[in-house]
Parts: sequence; structure tokens; C-alpha cells
Amino acid sequence: MTHAHTSPAPRRSRIAVLASGGGSNLQLLLDHFAGTADHMGEIVWVGSDKHTAGALARATSSGVPTGVVSDPYDGDALLAQLREAGADLLVLAGYLKLVPETVVRAFHGRLLNVHPALLPAFGGAGMYGMRIHTAVLEHGATVTGVTVHFVDEQYDRGPIVAQWPVPVLPGDTPTTLAARVLRVEHRLFPLCVAAVSSGAIVLGGDGRVHGHLDVPVGIAAPEWRFGMVPDTVEDATAFATDVARVFPR
Ligand code: GRF
Repeated sequence: MTHAHTSPAPRRSRIAVLASGGGSNLQLLLDHFAGTADHMGEIVWVGSDKHTAGALARATSSGVPTGVVSDPYDGDALLAQLREAGADLLVLAGYLKLVPETVVRAFHGRLLNVHPALLPAFGGAGMYGMRIHTAVLEHGATVTGVTVHFVDEQYDRGPIVAQWPVPVLPGDTPTTLAARVLRVEHRLFPLCVAAVSSGAIVLGGDGRVHGHLDVPVGIAAPEWRFGMVPDTVEDATAFATDVARVFPR
């Protein structure tokens, strides 16, 4: 991250979230913006391409309006739903459909996705859910992780906002690996969404990501280290140096 840019004025965004599945990432976003980050943004609408998606039920329980994206490839219809909600930031939280170009253009630099691997590895069309973790194990990779990125016209390709590594441990199955990665998604994604929502991180006209990602340091963050070392080690104090190593200033 370069500091060529002057620090943008703080803002508070109206966030729409698209999700296709159970919505555990959505839940962490709902909790985050209902809690400490409420001054940085508000979740104003949740949409899904599946009317049975658990994510919609979670939104309703939090009093957030919802909608079904009946034709995920109809960009004008989706744009109309987003405009009606007054959204100015769009977040993909386990949304499996390719976002139409009209929406990508309308939300250029205001459209984020979380992917459970270290992109560009193990990404692209067809690479989602357990398929990713199965491929990581089949390739014998020893490190995987989480990527949060701005979205462009292709699956899993846009400029990277942040990544966090997760070890592949002996005896891992796609299920155990997915669970370890998901725990890190739940910590990294809300911080990235809040940083873009408040303007602390922006996609510059040079196509590069600019700004600062605030990472809380505290006893309550041992599993960040979890992403770095085997399960057994619980040493939060070294956390700060880990962050410094992964997020160079
Ligand atoms: C997460 O692993 C996310 O990275 C991926 O889909 C999964 C969705 O999980 N894109 P949930 O619906 O947020 O629980």
C-alpha cells in the first residue's frame, strides 16, 4: 500500500450485501456495524439469488430489509434494487453469481468480495466452497488463507485489499480446513468492509489500493495467530509483530 494519496475524508456508507448461502460472514458484518463500527457504515439491504438463503433470515432477524435477486444476470434490475435501498457500497458475502457489468461499473471501487484462498491461487469460475479447500489439499499446499478484494468484471480478480495466511495442518480434510479459514474470514472481512466504508481505504484512479487498515490488537485476537501457527500455540503478545509483517505500513 503506497501513501501517494492524501487521506480521504471520513465517510459513513450505506451498505448492501449479496449472499447466496447461510450468511455467517453476513452475520459478522451485521454485528460489526450494529456495534463498534456503527459510525463507519450501516447495512441497509441484503439480497440473495436464493429466497431460501439463511442470509435473508439473518438480515430479517436484525431488522434489515431484504430482497430476492430473481435474475442475477439482469444488471438493470439489480441496480434498481440497490438504488431503491440507497446503497453506495456493495459487499459480496458468499455470493456465487457473477455480478453484471452494469453493476460493477456503477459500483467501481465500491464493490468488495471475500474469497477463502490466497488469490490469485485457487480462484476463478467454479472455484467456490469445498471445491477450493479440496483443491488446496490435492495440490499439497501448506499455506492457504483469506483474500478480500475489490470486484471487477471477472470472478476473484480485482485489486486486493488484504490477505491473511492460514496453515494447512497434517490430517486436514476440506471440512477442517474450511472451518479454520472461515474463522479468519470472520475477523478480516468486517475490518476491510469498515475501512472501505469509512474511506480509510480506497481504490485509487491508478487502479491501486490506497489507505490504512486498522487492525485491533488485543487478547481477544489469538486466532489471528491461529492463522499463522498450529492450533496449540496461544501467544497473543506476538500478535502485533505478525500484523506488522503481513500488513507492511
Ligand atoms: C465463505 O467461505 C466465503 O468466503 C465464500 O463462501 C462462504 C460463505 O459462507 N465466498 P457464509 O454464507 O458467509 O457462511
